[in-house]
Amino acid sequence: MHKHIVLLPGDGIGPEVVSAAKRILDAVAGRLNLTLTYEEHLIGGCAMDAQGTALSQDTLHACQRADAVLLGAVGGPKWDDPAAPVRPEQGLLALRKGLGVFANLRPVRVYPTLVDASPLRAEKLQGVDLLVVRELTGGLYFGQPKGRFEENGRVRAVDTLEYWDYEIERILDLSFQLAQSRRGKLTLVDKANVLESSRLWRQIATDMASRYPQVTLETVLVDTAAMRLVSQPAAFDVIVTENMFGDILTDEAAVLSGSMGLLPSASLGKATPGLYEPIHGSAPDIAGQGIANPLGTILSVAMMLRYSFQLEQGARAVEQAVERALAEGCRTRDLGGSLTTAEMTDAVLQRLAF
Ligand code: NAI
Ligand code: MG
Repeated sequence: MHKHIVLLPGDGIGPEVVSAAKRILDAVAGRLNLTLTYEEHLIGGCAMDAQGTALSQDTLHACQRADAVLLGAVGGPKWDDPAAPVRPEQGLLALRKGLGVFANLRPVRVYPTLVDASPLRAEKLQGVDLLVVRELTGGLYFGQPKGRFEENGRVRAVDTLEYWDYEIERILDLSFQLAQSRRGKLTLVDKANVLESSRLWRQIATDMASRYPQVTLETVLVDTAAMRLVSQPAAFDVIVTENMFGDILTDEAAVLSGSMGLLPSASLGKATPGLYEPIHGSAPDIAGQGIANPLGTILSVAMMLRYSFQLEQGARAVEQAVERALAEGCRTRDLGGSLTTAEMTDAVLQRLAF
């Protein structure tokens, strides 16, 4: 099997963690009869400097033609002027839109040896292994009308929470499938006591549930879900929710694991290359020092193997190698250790077993 990957290292520690993850991909490919080819492009601040835009058309087209895209991070103090007409994050937004990805998947696992890093007590964290699926294309961030309007000398600001049935159907369908491939539980988070769009989500989810008899569907109001994420996080398997609720809950869930540097993500659509990236930013405070934690990007590569290449065996091998490295005490500085990015990557490579 041949797969073509576009690498978008971006800014700050992005290039450091992407080159670490590429070493893992190459090692897995060598074991699984997989031939990988790569091309590398600019995105974010480095693209603004070199090309005057945070994402060039050439780069977007290369991503659209690829089998998968691996991104590091974008942004940094150099491009932080809020008044600037172009900003690094515009590259990310344009990429997500150009790829048509509508589901952002953020798995959160708590590693037994890292419970000290979490703000929650160890007994709460036992068995936390959840996946938040956030809708990316609809809701308050895009609904129309949107804007400021002057009426009778007063200013009115409007955002509209809007969803079409097809937008809800495609992400719920994916979420039921994900729940089926995991522990068989799907939690729809909404605000159906107040919002009409939430009532449509609930209706479609309830109808769809009959097509997935192995999956148990529960519906939870977003305020209750926010509490349960810290009071009983291990009770969740797959959580699916609309764009803004997902934005908030994914950050809340990320804190459970205790380190941003560990967490991967995938953004998926239908018949479009998946986009894989760690959830952390460009970490300008440690960029260029070779000490960034590569595990969030390495685990993103595991998600690529699983969701874009259907290589579950490769995905598991990477995840287990990460688990073993952590269990055996390998730590970068953000986790209280002293390993460099390259040494942590070596530790994972040494533990890859098929
Ligand atoms: P950040 O995630 O870059 O850093 C927050 C803290 O976590 C820093 O102390 C950093 O050193 C540490 N950290 C993050 N990733 C790490 C890793 N892999 N290993 C070790 N330590 C790590 O978030 P911050 O500081 O808010 O943003 C910095 C820049 O990144 C900004 O320009 C921001 O706009 C951008 N950003 C980009 C994102 C993306 O590309 N998806 C996401 C979030 C922020
Ligand atoms: Mg956020």
